[in-house]
Amino acid sequence: MEPVAEETQAEKRIKVLLAKMTLKEKASQMLNIGLPTILKGDYWDERDSAVFDVKKFKKYIIDLNVGSIHNTPGYLADSKEWYRILKTIQDAAIKKSRLGIPILYGIDNIHGANYVAGSVMFPHQIALAATWNPELTEMSANITSYESKSASLPWNFNPNADVAMSPLWGRISESFGEDPHLVSEMTNAYVRGSQQNDVGNVSNTAVCLKHFLGYGAGRNGKDRANAIIPEINLRQYFLPPFENAIKEGAMGVMISSNAVNGVPCHSNRYYITDILKGELRFKGVVISDFSDVEFLVEAHQTAKDLRDATKQAVNAGLDLIMNPFDAKIVDVIVDLVEKNEIPIHRIDDAVTRVLRLKFQLNLFDVPYNNPSDFPKIGSEKHIAENYKTASEAITLLKNTTVVLPLNKKKKVLVTGYAANSINRLNGAWSRTFLGRDTLYNDHSKLTILEAIQKEIGSSNVEFAEGTSYLDDINTKLAIKKAKKVDYIVVCVGEIPATEKPSDINELDLPKVQQELVKKLSKTGKPIILVMVQGRPRIMREIEPLVDAVIMAYLPGQEGGKVISDVLFGKINPSGKLPYTYPKYSGNYLTYYHKKTDIRDVNWGFDGFYPQYEFGYGLSYTNFKYSKFTISKDTLKGHDDALEISVQVKNTGKMDGKEVVELFIKDMVASVSPDSKKLVGFQKIKLKVGASKTVKFRITSKGLSFVGMDNKWIVEEGEFEIYIGGNPLKMKKKKIQYHH
Ligand code: BGC
Repeated sequence: MEPVAEETQAEKRIKVLLAKMTLKEKASQMLNIGLPTILKGDYWDERDSAVFDVKKFKKYIIDLNVGSIHNTPGYLADSKEWYRILKTIQDAAIKKSRLGIPILYGIDNIHGANYVAGSVMFPHQIALAATWNPELTEMSANITSYESKSASLPWNFNPNADVAMSPLWGRISESFGEDPHLVSEMTNAYVRGSQQNDVGNVSNTAVCLKHFLGYGAGRNGKDRANAIIPEINLRQYFLPPFENAIKEGAMGVMISSNAVNGVPCHSNRYYITDILKGELRFKGVVISDFSDVEFLVEAHQTAKDLRDATKQAVNAGLDLIMNPFDAKIVDVIVDLVEKNEIPIHRIDDAVTRVLRLKFQLNLFDVPYNNPSDFPKIGSEKHIAENYKTASEAITLLKNTTVVLPLNKKKKVLVTGYAANSINRLNGAWSRTFLGRDTLYNDHSKLTILEAIQKEIGSSNVEFAEGTSYLDDINTKLAIKKAKKVDYIVVCVGEIPATEKPSDINELDLPKVQQELVKKLSKTGKPIILVMVQGRPRIMREIEPLVDAVIMAYLPGQEGGKVISDVLFGKINPSGKLPYTYPKYSGNYLTYYHKKTDIRDVNWGFDGFYPQYEFGYGLSYTNFKYSKFTISKDTLKGHDDALEISVQVKNTGKMDGKEVVELFIKDMVASVSPDSKKLVGFQKIKLKVGASKTVKFRITSKGLSFVGMDNKWIVEEGEFEIYIGGNPLKMKKKKIQYHH
């Protein structure tokens, strides 16, 4: 956070400003509109250039002096174009509006500054999580900030701190996965990288944590669906990543579009005011999601009209309302305050928070940035960091016949829906919302096919697309070509999608893509399955038919090259799954579950059989774990701690990185304990033959869970500690805890 003295100065300026503001000016500060609302044309028009509509511009920027703007102009702008847009807006807001308040621009730069032409596009969050390397997340966030700021975009609607409970939910790709600890560590790293404890600095951006709260737990696995989350689970699984990120200094929080237990988050005063602003002492801006106050009427049916909805949402604690299309809500707020239906102190709280973020971002003094001060956008250095991040994300899930790395002198067939597309590697939020448009693709980037051709020479590579996402295109040709080669690389994948368009009814990998693998397997040639997808899709039937499986997630712009480099051994894979990969759609559980959840048909307790476990991932080398020691076997009292250490040795033939994972299990507890719980991890690098001792500390508090009264408690008794790099082969020891 900023030094106290400066903060006090800013707080004073806020008070002075607030005292000058009319009620309408205050209400306007609470509005976030979409950029197209002040441009010529219809909101969703695709444009070539942003032409301001003079009347609308005057109304929103000068007369109302709205608090905030989001969204793109309807085309991909580069830093210079963003500068032109932001300079026009900020100059008018500052010089021509009555109070001269700059505008807070927020945008979804989700995996890199994806809405700025020339930026690097990193792997999506799920892939960052798969690196199990917070330093890479921090670095990617830092570069994203720099590249966003090159375009004068100071506030990023990222990271996503949701704990994703179902792989059906398409936005699992935008999350750090299913585990609260991994989500927390990665979210915090992202916050550090973006804000660098100083958002007034020209290269840093403020974050906006999303989506508060329970967004990743829609009961039916669909986006924005109702979640059923009892308070005990809310506090155990969903709240900690937000709580930790707020402690780390996160300056914005976006409210979740869904309802929890039937109560829309946008009108949930308990969540927003009592928990977020009260318990967690959050001092930043709470923004609604897109049109979500209106959706209290249209979708949730918990408000009868916009007035009712606004009253509920503002009284619940919302500060900034993303109502993209118009300013109706401003007059509604004024009316509600005048009729004493919203207290003025609530409005003052909201406006103070919005103004505070503007001061912290230094927008009053530096409202936009000169792109020429940001020469490193899209630089070789940034590209290299992007490559490194994607390299560590790739997760090797099978290599039974040790078919990988491939021999460069052999012939390869490259086939499948994701084989020859940049868009499928990048996924959604890539230059456009859904990322399906090829118009903005950077042709210097390689698809998987192109990267393989470059690596081993085009004459050694056969190609046939085989299928589209859902249809057979030319599987026959693929089979024919397969007969000519030594290896088959099948790249299956998903259509780029997010939010509602990412909803699916079946978790199975589309049948036609599975059929392609089945047909190819009849050739008897070794098959390497490369999965380019935002979530795990069921592949039980084809898994036994292939020799190797690579999970590439949505690896971003360097994905093609990185996948090829994994295939040919230039990269030794070190990613681990950040979610449980299900084998059956009717048998999905997170790795943490209750014993009763896994009771099988014979009344035994063997009902958890995922395709691959959370934390699983292979390497081209081997790691041997030994000398597992615990400094003492009993923790006594609340402030006690013990040290765990283990030696890891690279016993294989290639240098590599290993993630050392630490889990605990409470053996008996008043609330049925989870199967296990991740409490620590470290990624280490080991040269061939080298070994390293890895140490962890466990405190008494680290053994706690949320009890029946919804409070964190530690209970006496026995705990198991598991350590290792492969969830199927962990080393185990027991400890005790006494009060
Ligand atoms: C999404 C948010 C996003 C917002 C602004 C919404 O539809 O749910 O994640 O930040 O739009 O673009």
